[in-house]
Amino acid sequence: MSVDFPQPILLIGADGMLGTAWCAVLDEMQVDYRCPKLAEFDLTDEESINRQVTDEIQLVINCAAYTAVDKAEEEEELATVINGEGVGKLADRCKQVSAKLVHYSTDYVFPGDADTPYSPSEKRDPCNAYGRSKAVGEELIEQSGCHHLVIRTSWLYAPWANNFVLTIARLATERDELSVVDDQFGRPTSAQHLAQVSVDLIFAGASGFYHVTDGGQCNWFEFAQQIVKLTGAECMVKPCDSSQFPRPAVRPAYSVLDITSTEKIVGELTHWKDNLAAVIAQHQKKETICS
Ligand SMILES: NC(=O)c1ccc[n+]([C@@H]2O[C@H](COP(=O)([O-])OP(=O)(O)OC[C@H]3O[C@@H](n4cnc5c(N)ncnc54)[C@H](OP(=O)(O)O)[C@@H]3O)[C@@H](O)[C@H]2O)c1
Repeated sequence: MSVDFPQPILLIGADGMLGTAWCAVLDEMQVDYRCPKLAEFDLTDEESINRQVTDEIQLVINCAAYTAVDKAEEEEELATVINGEGVGKLADRCKQVSAKLVHYSTDYVFPGDADTPYSPSEKRDPCNAYGRSKAVGEELIEQSGCHHLVIRTSWLYAPWANNFVLTIARLATERDELSVVDDQFGRPTSAQHLAQVSVDLIFAGASGFYHVTDGGQCNWFEFAQQIVKLTGAECMVKPCDSSQFPRPAVRPAYSVLDITSTEKIVGELTHWKDNLAAVIAQHQKKETICS
């Protein structure tokens, strides 16, 4: 089923990595959207949710979240207030005004110890505090009964914001050698590609749970190798294992999301090597203009 694009739209978290990509897509589509700043819309403030999600809003796109994965181990309550209860209140409000909610979630709602991709219907069993907070949000969306499209994604990157691609690209110019873990497998996701595929799912009238990532899969070492290759830096990338980089939050060994149901609707998702090449090219262009 194909639908017209619902509008007006409320875009939340527009200043974040994915929100920035969404703004560009909505500008290009010339649709009617508003994107309140944190001071005007806060997931911890129910009044601000009710004020911004008015009767006329047809579509709410929620890119806002508490995303500090390691810090969440110490701040699980705050992470859950934002990613759990706050999202629940947003979903209740969407139900009340009959707006569709597009929400993003994560591979960390799964334990990450599988050896085949996680399907959208797989049971939630989060691997860390951040994952638990996002799982609460997913549950409350389901319980609210609002019209929803929950898109789980993983390993986000973009030509802006703090992310693995820009960090490796910078480190590769500063160091002769980098060690990167090769025992964690997943699917990188270009934020720009994710926003565009989300539009395609909305146009197709998709609802329920879907997974959207780039095509293909890799480990962080392979991802870093490709980043360095594309930047042209003279830096050696060496594989190492996770025990050499202990982090406060558990990272899954295998968190590949199954994208089959998404590909049935929108066609084959672009391979991560192609999306990565596009992002590195944009980043290098920006650097040239700025210098
Ligand atoms: N990044 C990844 O690798 C990754 C992987 C899997 C899933 N995801 C999911 O994808 C979505 C987008 O992630 P992202 O990386 O684009 O996030 P991000 O860059 O950290 O942006 C999150 C945005 O949410 C805002 N925000 C934080 N607390 C808020 C609150 N209480 N009320 C309203 N806004 C609030 C932030 O504002 P301030 O900056 O002002 O705090 C920021 O603009 C999230 O749902 C995330 O869980 C991300």
